[in-house]
Amino acid sequence: MTSTPLVRAFSGVQPTGRLHLGNYLGAIKPWVEHQHARENLFCVVDLHALTVPEAIKSDELKARSRNVAAAFLAAGIDPSVSSLFIQSHVREHTELTWVLNCVTPLGWLERMTQFKSKSEGRETVGTGLLDYPVLMAADILLYDSQVVPVGEDQKQHIELARDVAVRFNHMFGETFVVPQPSIPLSGARVMGFDEPTVKMSKSIAESRPHHAVHLDDAPEKIRKSIMKSVTDAGCDYDPATASPGVVNLMHVLSAVSGEGIPSISNRYTGKGYGYLKQEVAEAVTAELAPVQDKYRRLLDEAGYLDQVLAQSTAKVRTLAEATMTRVRHAVGIG
Ligand code: TRP
Repeated sequence: MTSTPLVRAFSGVQPTGRLHLGNYLGAIKPWVEHQHARENLFCVVDLHALTVPEAIKSDELKARSRNVAAAFLAAGIDPSVSSLFIQSHVREHTELTWVLNCVTPLGWLERMTQFKSKSEGRETVGTGLLDYPVLMAADILLYDSQVVPVGEDQKQHIELARDVAVRFNHMFGETFVVPQPSIPLSGARVMGFDEPTVKMSKSIAESRPHHAVHLDDAPEKIRKSIMKSVTDAGCDYDPATASPGVVNLMHVLSAVSGEGIPSISNRYTGKGYGYLKQEVAEAVTAELAPVQDKYRRLLDEAGYLDQVLAQSTAKVRTLAEATMTRVRHAVGIG
C-alpha cells in the first residue's frame, strides 16, 4: 500500500504585540482546522522581531515568543501532527540566510514594498530590515516547504523566496524545493471594532483600547469592545449595502459559529444593531473561553510547553541539518 506524502506547509508568526481576534479568526483557527490535511511547521519568528528593536524590550522578547507558542497550542495546534518551534532555536536559519544573502541581488530587496514603507522617514535603518525577506526565504527553503499560507501582504515575500530558490538552483544545481507562491487562507478578515475600514492591527491596538479584542482579554473587556463597536445610525444588514462595522460583526459571527452571512442577515433584518452586538459578544467570549483557559494553564505549568517546543525543535532540526548539508556541499563550505 502506498500513501501520498502530505504537503509540507510552513507558517511564521512574529512575536510582536498581543495576538488578537483577527489573528485568531484569520489565521490560527483556519490553520488548526487544516492541520490534519498537511504536514505543518509553525515557527515563532523571533529573529524577524529583532528588525523592529523599539517594539521589543530585550527582557520581553523571550516571554513574548513563549506566549505566542502557548497561544497556538491553546488554540488547538496538535503537536502530534504539527511542529511548533522558535526560530532562533534552530541555528540553521541564520546560516542559510548568509548563504542566500550572497546570491540575492540587492535590487530585489530595495524594491520590497514592506521595506520601503517600514524604512520611510527613518534616520537610520538596520540592515536586518532590508534583509528581512532573505531570512524569511531561509525559513521556508530550509524545510523544503511546498506551501506557505500567508495573507495578501506577504505575497511579495513569497515571490522573493521563489526567485531566490530558482536562482540558487540555477547557479549551484537542484538544491531547494521552490515553494508555491501562497495559498489564500480561508479565514475571516477581521476589521478594527473602533474603525471598521482598517484591518484589525496589533500596533493600532496598542494605543486604542477598543480597536481589538485580544486573546488574553477578560470577558468583560471583550464584551465592552464589541458592544462599543462602530456601526451606523441606520438598520441595514444587507451585506452589499450595510456599513463596514455591521458587515464586520456579521463576518466575525459567521467565522465563529459557521452560520452563513445570508442567514445572519435575514435573522437580524428589522432589529437594532444592539442585538447583533450582543450575540457577537457572547459568541466570541464563548469561543475564546476554553482557549484562554488552556493558555493560562500552559503558562502556569510551563513543563508541557517546554516539552512540546523541545520535541518539535529536535524534529525540525533534523530537516534543517539535511538541507544545510546539501547547501554547504553545493557552495563548498563546511
Ligand atoms: N513576515 C511574516 C509576517 O510578518 C512572518 C514570517 C517570517 C513568515 N517568516 C515566515 C511567514 C515564513 C511565512 C513563512 O507575517
